[in-house]
Amino acid sequence: MPDPIEARDLTKVFGGTTAVDRVSFSVRQGEIFGFLGPNGAGKTTTTRMLTGVIPSDGGTAHVLGYDMRTDPVRAKQRFGVVPETANAYTDLSAWQNLMLMGELYGLARTRAEARAADLLGALGLLERKGQKVQAYSKGMKQRLILAMALLHEPELLFLDEPTSGLDVQSTHLILDLLRDLNRAGTTIFLTTHNMEEANRLCDRVGIIRSGRIVAIDAPEKLKSAIERVHRVEVSFDREVSGDGLAALETVLLTAREGDKWQLVVEDTDAAVRALTAFARGQGAAIVTLNTPAPSLDEAFLRLTGEAEP
Ligand SMILES: Nc1ncnc2c1ncn2[C@@H]1O[C@H](COP(=O)(O)OP(=O)(O)O)[C@@H](O)[C@H]1O
Ligand SMILES: [Mg+2]
Repeated sequence: MPDPIEARDLTKVFGGTTAVDRVSFSVRQGEIFGFLGPNGAGKTTTTRMLTGVIPSDGGTAHVLGYDMRTDPVRAKQRFGVVPETANAYTDLSAWQNLMLMGELYGLARTRAEARAADLLGALGLLERKGQKVQAYSKGMKQRLILAMALLHEPELLFLDEPTSGLDVQSTHLILDLLRDLNRAGTTIFLTTHNMEEANRLCDRVGIIRSGRIVAIDAPEKLKSAIERVHRVEVSFDREVSGDGLAALETVLLTAREGDKWQLVVEDTDAAVRALTAFARGQGAAIVTLNTPAPSLDEAFLRLTGEAEP
């Protein structure tokens, strides 16, 4: 049996820019696959090609065994999509939206009603089901869109940044439901720019940067690669020796930015001690000392072994 998602050299060009550049990966039956990358990396464009919203300019996308360029209709009957932007009718109620979805998928009315009630219950929306969607908060809207995507009991679910910008309660309800669905056998493809979310939820993570896949692995492996190095930002009240800083134990890299020094270190605690002693030796005082978490972009640079300035 083929993997539920098989992307081979998938490519999309907008004007002169290649938004998605020969992206290849497979999502296995029963897994939660995270597609992680910073804004503009190509996550939504890839998702749109996989779900048959836009055609690819090169390569192939097979979903549930169907070629999405030539045979998307039957695949769409069997997967669900939570797109990046809300697709519910705001002048209809949640219930009306769900019934409309049921008709679209050709579900019997009684089945659609039973499914809708179950899903609204699981997502904490049952009491508000008769209210027009325009009165919903962003989180409630997103929960409804998830319910709509699940109405026809798809075996595969695509979600494009499903929790981005949502309140804590909505995020929890959504992630809990995704875990339950996955336990019951649903394969899940989800995009995110949140490394923690990918880490907590996903069996495997593919990292995309500037339209290219740079790594695919278990999240723990990606995380440990990132955690091996840390950042320290320090400034002194007078000039200190850059060579002296670079020579300190545990310091791997130094770079000067204005009056601040950016250090990459192996061990933050040891670095702070060494810096204190260093300042004393230089007759200087530490003015600021920060240990910022690496940004996702920096983490990607490290993961892909590309040189850092
Ligand atoms: N319809 C479009 N027309 C032109 N450029 C687009 C279009 N959609 C996306 N892009 C560009 O493609 C790149 C990838 O965008 P996108 O797939 O939305 O990234 P992500 O979802 O990872 O934030 C970006 O540079 C974006 O500006
Ligand atoms: Mg996007």
